[in-house]
Amino acid sequence: MEALVLEKKDVLRLRDIDLDETLGPHDVRIALRTVGICGSDVHYYTHGAIGQFVVREPMVLGHEASGVIVEVGAEVKHLKVGDRVCMEPGIPDPNSKATLQGMYNLDPAVRFWATPPVHGVLRPTVVHPAAFTFKLPDNVSFAEGAMVEPVAVGMHAATKAKIKPGDLAIVMGAGPIGMVTALAALAGGCSQVVMTDVQQPKLDLAATLGPITPVNVAQQNLKEVVDAMTDGWGADLVFECSGNEKAAASVFAPLCPGGAVVYVGIPLQPIAYDVAAAMVKEARVEHVFRYAHVYPRAIALMASGKLNVKPLITDTFRFEESVEAFNFAVHMPPSSVKAQIIVAE
Ligand SMILES: NC(=O)c1ccc[n+]([C@@H]2O[C@H](COP(=O)([O-])OP(=O)(O)OC[C@H]3O[C@@H](n4cnc5c(N)ncnc54)[C@H](O)[C@@H]3O)[C@@H](O)[C@H]2O)c1
Ligand SMILES: [Zn+2]
Repeated sequence: MEALVLEKKDVLRLRDIDLDETLGPHDVRIALRTVGICGSDVHYYTHGAIGQFVVREPMVLGHEASGVIVEVGAEVKHLKVGDRVCMEPGIPDPNSKATLQGMYNLDPAVRFWATPPVHGVLRPTVVHPAAFTFKLPDNVSFAEGAMVEPVAVGMHAATKAKIKPGDLAIVMGAGPIGMVTALAALAGGCSQVVMTDVQQPKLDLAATLGPITPVNVAQQNLKEVVDAMTDGWGADLVFECSGNEKAAASVFAPLCPGGAVVYVGIPLQPIAYDVAAAMVKEARVEHVFRYAHVYPRAIALMASGKLNVKPLITDTFRFEESVEAFNFAVHMPPSSVKAQIIVAE
């Protein structure tokens, strides 16, 4: 089949590759429709590796996907041919200790699309476990379906935060992950979000998404803004979604006593944070790694109209333009958030 293959660092080609897959009794075969480009896909393209994961063999990219079921395994009950679906890209070992304890995202043996050596889904079809394949309601488009994967990260962060109705949240970083985390926090009960970035066009877009106050931290002091909004009390929650080392180390200053911090962004270097500053506020600190058990809730929020990702889908390419799409994503203009590839109409 023809797929978008990362041959090695900096070399991306749309070409034939043998990916024949047999359909197990609990699997479905899916014809791909829309696949989003994620920061990790771009990083494998430009760097050939992320941490311990190194591209050693040609690998198909793409893990944010929606499609249509074209074949179902003998034991599959909840899906049928023709169903519109989106998929969780990580397949854990069903018998691992982490999976059995409900933390299947933390299974060290998880096989995640487009994470070496596992192929991704910028290709016509894929075989996937039915258990990790979710039906899309009629009013959720394929483009929105392909956004469920990044939204799931924000949903998992919002869940870990244990939001109380009316909370004020800070979201640091207005990239795709910060944007979906802000939307999940608002859908989860936050009354307002203060969003930071250093790129003004991203903040301008964020401000159109709901009760979101943009703060350009290149020009404004975040703590001063939050103190002014809360009579000096501070924010109930801080979601760190920038991955910037300085931002990640500064989360406790604008936090209220008894508040919680959720680390979502991944600093490229280890960071040191002020334990004493965290202690005097008895700050609760959480971390998220991808997500577990949130796809159905993310889809339900999209279908209900409470979480609208459409403004985040800023750029769309055809499958034939896949290499061009990736070169665009490498030099993404600050006014763009999410680029997607339409594999088939
Ligand atoms: N924990 C997880 O499971 C998980 C999943 C997906 C992504 N991530 C991580 O989340 C982070 C965000 O992902 P993304 O795709 O949105 O990346 P991105 O690079 O598109 O967004 C990061 C944003 O932070 C902004 N920024 C830089 N310095 C800042 C500062 N000092 N204060 C505020 N904002 C600042 C950048 O301008 C950019 O808009 C990355 O670190 C990524 O690796 C984590
Ligand atoms: Zn992703």
